[in-house]
Amino acid sequence: MTALAVCPGSFDPITLGHVDVIRRARSLFDEVIVAVAVNPSKNYLFSTDQRVTLARQAVSELDGVRVEAVTGLLAAYCRDVGARAIVKGLRGSADFDAELAMSLLNRHLSGVETVFIMGDPSLSHVASSHVKDIARHGGDVTGLVPDAVAASLMRLRQGARNV
Ligand code: PNS
Repeated sequence: MTALAVCPGSFDPITLGHVDVIRRARSLFDEVIVAVAVNPSKNYLFSTDQRVTLARQAVSELDGVRVEAVTGLLAAYCRDVGARAIVKGLRGSADFDAELAMSLLNRHLSGVETVFIMGDPSLSHVASSHVKDIARHGGDVTGLVPDAVAASLMRLRQGARNV
């Protein structure tokens, strides 16, 4: 039986920190699904299609990794696809504080365990929210996100300037 892991997140947009955690999750599990959350009450910068497309491009060279948009409860999705575990990256104690309750709730709801991978220290400063802020103010996001994401952020900014 193959062991499947789900790496969930907003991926708004996917960063090099995410890609590192996904790659390392794949080294532990036979298959990995990158679950791009769809939450209608959340104000994403990128549409669901854009977030999925950028994530697909970012993991295109990782064998055994696929990207899906996921609506509704992550726990229900994990049960439906037969996930062995949810995998999340932790950059530090703030991430742990945010993830602890979610991991216990997901186990309560579905029995699925969450496995934490410690983020690579060289990427511990990388967060989607900061990346968006840097791009919004015209800063260079090279080295923080895949090149296709940097290009999309640049296009968005140029579009916004023309409005
Ligand atoms: O990248 P993020 O925004 O930190 O990811 C949060 C995410 C998408 C993993 C979390 O909000 C989630 O699991 N959403 C799906 C809906 C759900 O299951 N909510 C209950 C979580 S206990």
